[in-house]
This record gives sequence, structure tokens and C-alpha cells, in this order.
Amino acid sequence: MRYLVLFTLALVLTGCGQLPRRVDVHSYAQPEMARVRHLKLDLEVLFGERQLVGSAALSVEGHGPLILDTHSLTIERVELWNPVRRNWDAGSYTLGKADPVLGARLEIPLEMPHQSVRIFYRTSPKATALQWLDPPQTAGKKHPLLFTQSESIYARTWVPIQDSPGIRITYEARIRTPKELFAVMSADNSKNRARTGDYLFEMPERIPPYLLALAVGDLDYRALSHRTGVYAEPVTLGAAASEFSDTERMVQAIEQMYGPYRWKQYDIFVGPPSFPIGGMENPRLTFATPTVLAGDKSLVGLIAHELAHSWSGNLVTNATWRDFWLNEGFTTYLENRIQEKLYGKLRADKEFTIELGELREEMKRLAPRDQILWVNLDGRDPEEGFTQVPYAKGALLLRTLERAVGRPRWDAFLQDYFNRFAFQSITTSQFLDYLRLKLPETQSVDVSRWVYEPGLPDGGAVPPEGVFSAIDQAVANFQQAKPFPVTGWITQDWLRFLRQLPETLPATSLRTLDDAYHLSSTGNSEILTQWLRMSIRANYEPGLARLEPFLLSVGRQKMLRPLYTELARTPQGKAKARDLFARARSSYHPLAVALVEGILK
Ligand code: BES
Ligand code: ZN
Repeated sequence: MRYLVLFTLALVLTGCGQLPRRVDVHSYAQPEMARVRHLKLDLEVLFGERQLVGSAALSVEGHGPLILDTHSLTIERVELWNPVRRNWDAGSYTLGKADPVLGARLEIPLEMPHQSVRIFYRTSPKATALQWLDPPQTAGKKHPLLFTQSESIYARTWVPIQDSPGIRITYEARIRTPKELFAVMSADNSKNRARTGDYLFEMPERIPPYLLALAVGDLDYRALSHRTGVYAEPVTLGAAASEFSDTERMVQAIEQMYGPYRWKQYDIFVGPPSFPIGGMENPRLTFATPTVLAGDKSLVGLIAHELAHSWSGNLVTNATWRDFWLNEGFTTYLENRIQEKLYGKLRADKEFTIELGELREEMKRLAPRDQILWVNLDGRDPEEGFTQVPYAKGALLLRTLERAVGRPRWDAFLQDYFNRFAFQSITTSQFLDYLRLKLPETQSVDVSRWVYEPGLPDGGAVPPEGVFSAIDQAVANFQQAKPFPVTGWITQDWLRFLRQLPETLPATSLRTLDDAYHLSSTGNSEILTQWLRMSIRANYEPGLARLEPFLLSVGRQKMLRPLYTELARTPQGKAKARDLFARARSSYHPLAVALVEGILK
């Protein structure tokens, strides 16, 4: 037995011949034995119990056994479809021991190949993918709200499924809710928006399970064009519709570069302030944080980003979480191209300069193994791969490749790439092979070094140096107590300005800035986060006064992380953080709770 293990290990380590290694270490699934092709969900949404209850019917190909991923699900019974008698027979199953990260393996023996399996189950009130909000935690305060976040491996906390991005499925769903609420999914959202409490959905394109998504609440819809629109709570809908009014132009801009949008409808669901991330590219229905509703469209880069995933990520998907940079690096690159088309090269260059600054900052703290695009996540939580590396280093590699062959050839290559691998999940080496085949001239770039080694290679296609020269001049003026103009400053200019100031700016200097520019009361959540960080460091009272309501409502991890980290640096700060967290906790998403607990422990 020991030798068999060693032998298998050796085979895996030597790459097992020529085939790309596609094993997803974050899923129990063994698709070579049985693979799920279609999912039919039938769920009831119980707000009182904080549970989804019902069944998942899976159409399966292969002889079995069928191995599924589950996490904190209660399995009630399993049935197998009997095609002769045309009914469901009782089936057997075994549920493995739960791993804290991966959950429990559900094994179902099949009686014949190509069978349908139906699993009756309920979710845990603590399911990571689900956030249940009581009425007071919503914008409208009258109705409860539920939304899911399945990426990266949380689909298994609400659906028993082969939860690997390499295994694509089509799906349909019937969702029952309290009558006064409305449900939406990452699928065809029926044009009939009558509130019946009984909703049907269909996703006819094959998608990876991390794109399964559901939201239920007091939601209204406003169309932005014939194929774009917004869902939000009624009190948020107007602001969301005007903030995102460029959405159709964005779709057209990216279509001009990389071919038609392949998902019919592009809608945006604006979630509650506790939405744990900026945005999630659920197909046909991006989920977005309301913290981008700045009132001046200055943060709509987020929509450009999630929309771009309709090509990079949703059409062509990372086969495993190790290949995550194929999703996010490409999307960061495409997002920048959309911004350039809509708002000009200068704004796009500023945006990327900021992202590179964040990357360099983060790289200082990252172990070498985490600076690698093809990051090794064996035995680790895929969350650990969620750094600026796949995003900004990935995008910088693509810019560097673009520069090597020129934009026209590069864009033609990308369009071919999206078509060649449409509705497929691919590995890093599949991308590299395709690149070598189609664009041999890119050999001038040491791609292996970029993909397989830590650090940031010299000679990347970074934006021109001087994009922020006016801002840097303003920083110098401020430090010499000389005036400087701020007219026309965009968000990125403010971020640059604040980040170029010395880390330990005294409270008196913050006061001067605040008197002139009212930063403590800005409605721009990105600028505010930077400002609050500086306020904590300087113990600047008016900033600290704003910090409290901000942390009590906003649950976006990108903002919680720097603010709680900054607070945790001093004993008094840590005490304040603990107090705030105790009060905010019930309104944070399970992922945000875990994040803050990690910082304060
Ligand atoms: N797909 C990601 C969000 C994600 C990544 C969720 C990994 C879970 C695990 C999404 O497209 C994204 O990148 N969102 C960013 C915003 C973007 C503008 C960089 C975010 O939420 O901050
Ligand atoms: Zn993304």
C-alpha cells in the first residue's frame, strides 16, 4: 500500500506524461468516474430558520460512483431515477468526515451509467455562501434579504455539487420565497416581475459552479438599455441606475474589441452595504457593493471589471484555483482597456498606476511562493491566493505581451483565444501553449519567468512615469505649506495624493486638509478608507468619528482589512476595534467575520 502511494505520488510529481495536470486539489470530485452535466434546484427560502430547504437533481454521466462536494449541508435522503418504472427510487450514500476548508465528500453509488440523482437537503444557518439580513440591516428596513457568494469554493455550502471550476454545468431552478419578496439568479431572470413568491430560472450556458448565485429581497428593476439594467432595493434603485448609466456603452466598447457579448442580458444587482466584496461576475447578473455609488461615476471601473469577466472568467475559466490569474489578470487587463475607451488613456493609466502601487506594497509582505502567478495552493485555502498578484502582476504580463506584438495583433489573438476556449475551463499551461502557437513573436518576453517565478520582472509595460506629476507637485506644495489646485481631481488623483504623504502625518495636517476638502465627510468610499487609515494613525478625532458609523455599516473586506489592521497596531486601537467589531459583527458577512477575527486574534 505504501509503495502504491509513493508510486502514485511519483507519477503525479513527474506530470504523468504530456497531459496537463488538471487535478483540482480543492474538490473531492472525480469527474472521470461520474460527471455532473445539469443541475435542477428546487429550494424554499426560510428566513426565520436562515435555511434553504429542498432538493438538487443532478444529471450525471459516467458509471460512478458520483462524488460531490458539500460543506455544512444536512443531507436528508438521496434518490436515483429509475427510467424503466419512471419514478425515483431510494438511493444510498456516504458522507465523509468534514474538513474545515473543503467540507465533506458525498459519495453516491450509481446503478446505471448516465443516471439522474436527487438529493434532499438543507443548508446550515452558518453557510459561508449565504448572508441573511434582518430588515434593520437592509437599506429599506422593512424586509429581510438574502444573497449568495459562491466564489471560490462556497457553492458547496448551499448546493451539493462537483464544486470545481473545471466542471461546467447548465442549471435550472425553482425558488420559493415569502410572497412579498423577489428572487433573482445568475440565469435567465423572467421578464414577468410579478411577486408571486414562486420563481423559475434557467441558465442554458455551461457555467462553473462558483457562478451559481441567488438573491432574494425587496428588489425592483430598472432597465438601462434593451439588454442592461439594475436590480436593487427601491430606495437604492435610482442612485444605482444613474451611477451605472454608462453600462450599455461599456458593453459596446468591449464588444468592439473582443466580439459579441454571449450571455444575452447584462444586469447588476446592487447588494446591501455588508456585501463582502466589491463585485462578483455572476453571469447575466453582476453582484455589486453599494460602496461604488459615489454619485459621480468615479468608481464604475468595478462594473467594467465584472462585465469583462463575461469574456475572461465566465467564457474562458480557470480550470483550478491555481490558475486564478487567468480569470483576474485578464479581467484587470480588459477592465483597463474599457476604461481607456470610455474615459481616455490618462485615466486608464492612472488607474493602473494605482493598482501597481498596491501590488508593490503587498509584495513587500508576501512570501516568495505567493508572488507566483501559478501559485501553489495545495493544502491551503484558495482565499490565500486572493492577492494583488493574480490581478496586477497578471495584467502587467498581458500589457507586456501586447507591447511585444503591437495592439492589433494582440487584440486579434485575444479575440481568437476567447472564441477557441469559449465555455471551457483551461489551465495555465494550456494558455501558454496557445500563446506560443499563435504568437511566436512573444518569445522576446520571458513568460516562464513571469508565470512561474516570484517577484516582478524588470522591463514590464508599466504606464508612463508622469501620469501623476501634477499630483506629486501638489504633495510637495502641501508639505511646504504652499497652495495647490485640486480642480478636476478624480478619485485616483486623491488616492495618489493621500498615499504620497508621509505615513505619520500629524493630526494638525489632517485638520488643514479636512478644513479645505472635507475628506471626513466624503461620499467616496475609496478615498474615505485611505483617509480613515491616516486618521487612525494620527488619532485625528473627526476622522475617528466617521470611522465608527462606517465600520458599523460597510462590510466590504477591501475596506475592513486596512482599517481593522491599522486599529490593531496599538493597544488602545485594538480595544476600540474589538468594541466596534462586537457591535458590527451581526451585520457582517461570514467571510468578513472570519477576516476580522483573524486580524484581531
Ligand atoms: N471574482 C472577483 C471576486 C472574488 C475573487 C470573489 C476571489 C471570491 C474569490 C471579482 O471579479 C473581483 O475581482 N472583484 C473585485 C473588484 C475589482 C474591481 C478588482 C473586488 O471585489 O474587490
Ligand atoms: Zn475579478
